Parts: sequence; C-alpha cells; structure tokens
Amino acid sequence: MSRIAYVNGAYQRHTEAAIHIEDRGFQFADGVYEVCEIRHGYIVDLTRHLDRLDRSLGELRIAWPMTRAALILIIREVARRNRVKNGLFYLQVTRGAARRDHVFPAADTPSTIVVTAKRTDASLIARKNASGISAITVPENRWDRVDIKSVGLLPNVLARQAAKEEGAQEAIFIDADGTVKEGAATNVWIVDKDGHLRTRHAEHGILRGITRTTLKDVTAAIGLEIVEQAFSVEDMLEAREVFITAATSICFPVVAVNGKPIANGHPGSVSQKIREAFFDIAEKTAI
Ligand code: PDD
Repeated sequence: MSRIAYVNGAYQRHTEAAIHIEDRGFQFADGVYEVCEIRHGYIVDLTRHLDRLDRSLGELRIAWPMTRAALILIIREVARRNRVKNGLFYLQVTRGAARRDHVFPAADTPSTIVVTAKRTDASLIARKNASGISAITVPENRWDRVDIKSVGLLPNVLARQAAKEEGAQEAIFIDADGTVKEGAATNVWIVDKDGHLRTRHAEHGILRGITRTTLKDVTAAIGLEIVEQAFSVEDMLEAREVFITAATSICFPVVAVNGKPIANGHPGSVSQKIREAFFDIAEKTAI
C-alpha cells in the first residue's frame, strides 16, 4: 500500500507529493508544525495540539490555511487513507510560496499545508520502555522563542545527532545557568532525591509540550503532585528517576545521562505508572 500525503488541497502519493521550491518553509524555516500520536485508532490530545498550532501561527502571524473543522477532517482522512491505527500524524503550515524576500509576502499569499501520517513500531517503543534510554547533555544554543513550535530545528537536529554519535537516544539542552531546559524533541522530568516529581516551568525557554500538559491530568488522577521548578544537571544526576515526554514516545525512562547511571540504572516506577494511565486520561478522537 502506498502512503498518501495531503498537500495544499490534494491527497497525493507520498513519493510524489511536493511543494514549491520557493516555499518559505524551505527557504527560511518560516513555518510551524505539530506531531500527534494515534493510538488504537484514536488521535490523542487533538484539541490541545490544534490549540498550540493556533498559538504558534498567531505568534508568527501566519494565516490558518483553512478552518479548524476542515483541518480535523483532513487529519482523520490522512490517518484513514494510510491505515494508521498506531502511529503519528505530522502537520506543517508555512507562510507559503513567494519570490525570495525576507519580509512577509503579500497578505493574500496562501499558507502551505502538509499533513502526513505513519505507523510506529510498537515493539520498539515497548523495548525502550522496558530498558530505558540514555541521554547526553549539550549547551543550549537555540533562539529565545522555542515556545513556538517552529520548523527551525537545526540546533535540535545537531544535538540529536551528537547524542546518536555517543550511543545515546536524546540530547538535553542545558541553560547557561546550569539548569535543565528540555530534550531535542522532548520535555524532561525528574523524581528528585527527596521524591518530588519536577519539571521546568514552561513560561519561558522551553516548548509547552502537550504530553507535559496532559501529564498534569494523569498525575492528578493517580495521586501524584508535580512541582514546576527548574532543576540543575546535578539534581538530575542524583535523581531517583529521570524521564522524557513527547507525543512520539509519551514517557520514556532515562537510565543514564552522560554515561552515568540514574539511581540503579533501571527504569523507575513513576514513569511506568504514568505511562499506564496516560491513554485512559488523554483526550481521544476517533479517526
Ligand atoms: N517534538 N520539546 C521539544 C523541543 C519538542 O520538539 C517536543 C516535541 C516536545 C514535546 O512536546 P509534545 O509533548 O507536545 O510532543 C518538547 C515532536 C514530537 C517532534 O519534533 O517530533
């Protein structure tokens, strides 16, 4: 079965789907995106993902490519046409195609919209949950507006590649003051040495992850309290548990950072409890 992508009004074969060579997403990374989990035939947390898309577009003054209701129909159709029951959809909106010029193009330039969907390997995810992953730390070198889910991800790409080259699966950005920001494509959490579940406040300097937001509902439901407070690399290395969250992975345990084991070097129980409760609590939209 060939994959199908939605591009600017048409469903096309994935291998043939294309955008204009002067698309501003291609030339300036002038666009935003969302990645959303599909599990057991349901889109997870769609409302929150589309609310964040709305915010990202608003911050960059990019027009919605269509109504929200129309976009939801397309997302569901792309998932159906690709027969994705367990996987992800990806959507990207850019400021459109126009003769190259740094300033915004004419206001009537249509935004570019791309929606794709793919299956994920449930057994690989299960293996990572069972064994945990390892991470490295890298200095923060991104722009100040990482709260916008922009497609300008070069520092994240280089950080993930550095992690891979060191045999790790995630790179964690560290602020100049020594505090933990977030992963290259994840938010970071610890159960500190006193047993407090901590994650950095999301007012500034990190992406407000949707999984992070839904974890607040999940932890409330299972009787855990979250402290939104920055923590240092040392706090992380001394933690009882470290884990990362994202729509792609929900909640992966991190069992080593910079080659040093976290606690006994095995996945902890808090991330496991959260993972088990997550799908029941999250919003589910049938595809
Ligand atoms: N990344 N921080 C960064 C820098 C991210 O890129 C992501 C998600 C997150 C977690 O956000 P959420 O819980 O909404 O997925 C945090 C996506 C998955 C990606 O780039 O593929």
